[in-house]
Amino acid sequence: MDYFSINGGDPLRGSVRIRGAKNAVLPILSAGLLTDEALHIPNAPQLSDVKTILGLLEAMGCRVERGDDGAATVQADGEIVWEATWDQVRQMRASICVLGPLVGRFGRAKVSLPGGCVFGVRPIDMHIKGLAALGAEITLEEGFIEAQVPGWEDGARLPGGEVFLGTPAGPTVTGTMNVLMAATLAEGRSVIHGAACEPEVGDLVACLNSMGARITGAGSPTLVIEGVEKLHGATHAVIPDRIEAGTYLMAGAITGGRVRVESCIPSHLSAPMDALQSAGYHFEIGEDWIEIAPRRERPLPVDVTTQPYPGFPTDLQAQMMALMVLAEGTSVITDRIYPDRYMHLAELLRLGARIRRQGSSAIIEGVSSLSGAPVTASDLRASAALVMAGLVAKGTTKVHRVYHIDRGYQRIDERVAELGGRIERLVE
Ligand code: EPZ
Repeated sequence: MDYFSINGGDPLRGSVRIRGAKNAVLPILSAGLLTDEALHIPNAPQLSDVKTILGLLEAMGCRVERGDDGAATVQADGEIVWEATWDQVRQMRASICVLGPLVGRFGRAKVSLPGGCVFGVRPIDMHIKGLAALGAEITLEEGFIEAQVPGWEDGARLPGGEVFLGTPAGPTVTGTMNVLMAATLAEGRSVIHGAACEPEVGDLVACLNSMGARITGAGSPTLVIEGVEKLHGATHAVIPDRIEAGTYLMAGAITGGRVRVESCIPSHLSAPMDALQSAGYHFEIGEDWIEIAPRRERPLPVDVTTQPYPGFPTDLQAQMMALMVLAEGTSVITDRIYPDRYMHLAELLRLGARIRRQGSSAIIEGVSSLSGAPVTASDLRASAALVMAGLVAKGTTKVHRVYHIDRGYQRIDERVAELGGRIERLVE
C-alpha cells in the first residue's frame, strides 16, 4: 500500500494548474444515463473516484471511453441495468447520483443505500423525498432504495412536482442533483425549493441544458425544470475544482511559500480567501488565477464556521485546521455541515498540535512548530490536511493510506514536489 514520506521545512513556490472539479464530474458523468447519445467530458480529472463512477456506469451497461489525457465519454445506448449494488455504492457515496437519472429515463431504479462514512451518518432522506414528490413510488428493502414510476412498464414517465429539499444542515448537494436530473425527463414542470447553490450544481445545470433540458434558477435556491421528452448528447468541460485550488493555496500559506493556482474561478473561493486574509495572507488575483504571497510571521488565529455555498466549505475545513494549528493564538473551527468531521484532529495531535473537541467545534491553540511522525489518512480532505502539516513539520512525516487522497487530488505528490515540497510516494 502506498504512503507518502514528507520532509518538512521547505516553502512551496510556483504554479499549479487546477483540474476539473471532482464534485461536478461525478454527477455529470451519471447524467450520461439520461440519453442514448454520447456525453463527452474533455477535462475529466484523473482521479480514482472518476474511475469508480465510470466502472459503475460500465457495469450498468453504458459504453465508456477514457482518453490518455483523462477525457471521458459515456453512452447509455444499450441494455441498461437499472441497479447499483451495495458493493458498488459503498466504494463511493457519490454513486447515489445514478438514482435520479435511472428514475428519470427508465422509470425504475434499485440502488443500494450508501453506508455512512468516517465523518457522519450522511442520510439520503431528501433524495427519497424529492423523487417521491416528482411522482416516484419508493420502498426501502434489504438495504436498497427501490424506486418506480407507476406504469413504467408502459413507458409512463415521472409526472413532476414541487418539493422543498432543505435539511437541518442546509441544502443537500447530491440530493439537489438527483432530483434535478430525474425532473429533466418528467412529463410536466418541477420546482425544487431550498436547492443547493454550490457551483457544481450550476455546472450540472449547464451540462443538462446543453443536452436539451430546460432548467432555470442555477445558483439560486429555486430550480425550475420544464420536463422534456428526450435529451441528446453533448460535450461539456466541467468547472475547475475550487476545493483543490483552496487546498493548494493553504499548502502555500502553511509553508510560507508563494503559490499561484491557475485555471481556477476566483469567485468560487471568496470565503476561503476571506478566511486566509483574516489570517494575515495577501493575494494577487487574476481572471483565472490566484497567487498567495508568503507571510514571514505565523498565521493570525481565525474562527471559521462551515456553511453551504457561498460560505466556508466543509471540504476545506480540515485544511484550514492544519493551518490554524500554527496560528499565533487560539482559533475555533465549527463544522455545521458535518459536526463529526474531525478524524484529522487526532492525527494532527500526533504531530504536536494542541486541539480539543467541543461538540461540533474544535478549539485550536496555536503552536510555533510541529514535529514529524507517522500518521494515518482517514478520508479525502483529512489526508490533504496531513500532507500540509507534514510539509511544515520538522523531520519526516509518513502519511499512510494515501488511497484516500488519490480519490480527489490528481498526482498530489508529484505536483507538490514540482512546487518544491520534499514528498515522495513509497510502497510499504
Ligand atoms: C457533497 O456531498 C460533496 N460530495 C461533499 O464532498 C461535500 O462535503 C458535501 O456535498 C457538502 O458540501 C459530492 O458532491 C460528491 P449533502 P453530499 O447531501 O451531497 C445532510 C468531498 O470531500 N443531508 O450536501 O453527500 C447531510 O447529513 C465530499 O469532496 C440530509 O440530512 O452532501 C449534511 O449534513 C465529502 N439528508 C448536509 O445535508 C439528505 O438526504 C449536506 O449534505 C442529504 C443530506
